[in-house]
Amino acid sequence: MQNEVSYSQTMPNELKMELRSSHAGEMGAVFIYIGILSASCDPHVRAFAREHLRTEYHHLCLFEELIHLYRGSLVLPLWVIAGFLTGFLPALLGRDWVFRTIETVETF
Ligand SMILES: [Fe+2]
Repeated sequence: MQNEVSYSQTMPNELKMELRSSHAGEMGAVFIYIGILSASCDPHVRAFAREHLRTEYHHLCLFEELIHLYRGSLVLPLWVIAGFLTGFLPALLGRDWVFRTIETVETF
């Protein structure tokens, strides 16, 4: 633990910022799929969202394990809300909207 604390103190700020940004992005991704699952009854969309939620949750856990090395984003709740709405709203409109949204997000 002492090595981790001292590593955190010597870690370049750019790396901390990158970890903070990636952590926030994974949090947003998790909530995109939670938003989809909250709105969609389409079995194909739900299976897709469940599979991707599992993957994104795994990514988020990796960054959570390292969070003692950097400060999490102060606007993390906004990432949660934005992610949820990014999944929820297209899911209300149907399958095509969900897949176009995910394609856009993934290529961003
Ligand atoms: Fe991810």
